[in-house]
Amino acid sequence: MAPVITVLVAGATGAVGSLLVPKLRAAGFAVIPHVRPKTAARHPLGKDPRALVTDLSDTPRLDEFMAHSQAVVCLVGTMRRRFASGDTYESSDYRPVVQLVESARRAPPAQPRHFVLLSALGTRPGSGYLGWKHKAEEAVRASGLPHTILRPSVFDSRGSDSQPSDQTERKPPPVFGPVLNAIGHLPGLKPWADDVRPISLDVLCDAIVRILRDRAPLGVVKGRQLWPLATNPRTA
Ligand SMILES: NC(=O)c1ccc[n+]([C@@H]2O[C@H](COP(=O)([O-])OP(=O)(O)OC[C@H]3O[C@@H](n4cnc5c(N)ncnc54)[C@H](OP(=O)(O)O)[C@@H]3O)[C@@H](O)[C@H]2O)c1
Repeated sequence: MAPVITVLVAGATGAVGSLLVPKLRAAGFAVIPHVRPKTAARHPLGKDPRALVTDLSDTPRLDEFMAHSQAVVCLVGTMRRRFASGDTYESSDYRPVVQLVESARRAPPAQPRHFVLLSALGTRPGSGYLGWKHKAEEAVRASGLPHTILRPSVFDSRGSDSQPSDQTERKPPPVFGPVLNAIGHLPGLKPWADDVRPISLDVLCDAIVRILRDRAPLGVVKGRQLWPLATNPRTA
């Protein structure tokens, strides 16, 4: 029997994380959900017996839990409307990635931990949300760790068991999905439409489970690869 893989999931209390943690466990992974102290009391994962409840700047504690992990999934991020609570793109979409990458490289035992980063479609050098996402991707690429960087389009959490700490449904603009689905039927346009059309959180999380199970770092992955990863049978 294959040894159980332990995955440290940062951003576990978010829309994606709260769905991914139970899916990983159902697939046979051991999971360490990371929970911010300020969120622990108001999210079910704050009481999870395996949770790492600390700020990611607590290097010794992060390394202690990292030492038990063979893979890391970083789902951390924020939105402009949460800036009032103290988050910024730098403090949520970039710095945690650097902290996790450094810990994944440093924590004993030395091993090539698979680093999975949830980024976003359209990242590019520059400022704002997409600029910070690009910087975060660069940190992962420069780390030397085996990695997979996911660049999905907008999320759709409707019908899923997601329990985000902000208690807000992720819902794409009404006509966006149907229009892109229709464009996907035009000759040659399916790959592009699969990159851009809204992605259900169940599909995204199933793809992440598959990526971890296959243990194959894939580099940059967009919608055209995410959809089949979620639905095709296991290859490994
Ligand atoms: N929404 C979209 O359509 C979309 C599309 C493509 C990519 N993305 C990206 O996908 C990722 C996940 O999205 P989501 O909707 O699941 O996010 P979310 O619900 O906003 O959750 C974000 C998670 O990151 C945590 N977090 C924020 N700042 C942190 C920090 N400084 N240190 C540690 N943890 C921190 C949050 O903790 P708390 O619970 O304590 O706040 C929460 O667990 C994000 O990076 C987002 O940018 C989103």
